[in-house]
Amino acid sequence: MRGLINRNAVVTGAASGIGAAIAKRFCEEGVNVLALDRNKVAWADDYENADSLQLDLTKDSAPDSVLENIDSFLKGSCDILVNAAGVSAMAPFEQTDSEVWDTTLAINFEAVTTLTRKLLPFLKKSDQARIIMIGSICSEFAPSGMSAYVVSKHAVLGLTRALASEFGTDGITVNCIQPGAIVTGITAAAFEGDISFREHWESKAAIGRLGLPDDVAPLAAFLVSEEGRFISGHGIYVDGGAMQQG
Ligand SMILES: NC(=O)c1ccc[n+]([C@@H]2O[C@H](COP(=O)([O-])OP(=O)(O)OC[C@H]3O[C@@H](n4cnc5c(N)ncnc54)[C@H](O)[C@@H]3O)[C@@H](O)[C@H]2O)c1
Repeated sequence: MRGLINRNAVVTGAASGIGAAIAKRFCEEGVNVLALDRNKVAWADDYENADSLQLDLTKDSAPDSVLENIDSFLKGSCDILVNAAGVSAMAPFEQTDSEVWDTTLAINFEAVTTLTRKLLPFLKKSDQARIIMIGSICSEFAPSGMSAYVVSKHAVLGLTRALASEFGTDGITVNCIQPGAIVTGITAAAFEGDISFREHWESKAAIGRLGLPDDVAPLAAFLVSEEGRFISGHGIYVDGGAMQQG
């Protein structure tokens, strides 16, 4: 990908799954990556151009800790923000108590908003600024029994569109990657433990299989590259064609 060497990126949810695949791909493209997660980012030691910070992004202190590490590891500059940290919440609406609701919204949406707002001054100074949200097919689709997750992911797509409009003249592109069924930390147990769930998602994908984090990472690398400069304000499915099938 063109225009990525020595760019500086912050990637959340980077210990596992989609965030880890994107962050590693960025490192391989020559991007310096500050990898954030509440869990230890074990792979970061394998790359000279990666550093990691273990923190809960829903805590009030998180954004300032990120800023300190941008100053120290990224030398005070940030061109790329990828908001990948997230949790799943599968429960009928009537059994989704306010704690589950608030926890889901706190990481999937509120923390995204807070960190993005905090990093905007850095992004505005970049000549190739990119924000990538990780939404979901559930940003535009509402399977039964996932109301908190669905609401959080619809909000992420709405935020993508609003920020793309507001910060386009600052040279910032904002896009939302919408994965389908991908085998990661939040889904692996469900796919392994429930054969009919797995078969449903395998056959729903036109390509006939579940996705892997490395199926998602190339789109992120393209969007943040120089070549992605005129793509903004969109949700882009990476779902193996699942959303085209009833
Ligand atoms: N796996 C799928 O099928 C799928 C589909 C659509 C969208 N997504 C989205 O992709 C994103 C990445 O999820 P994944 O599937 O790779 O799951 P994952 O569990 O492998 O990765 C999520 C990461 O987010 C981190 N995280 C969660 N809460 C955090 C917090 N409060 N502070 C800091 N880090 C936190 C976790 O520790 C984990 O490393 C999520 O936003 C998820 O909603 C996943």
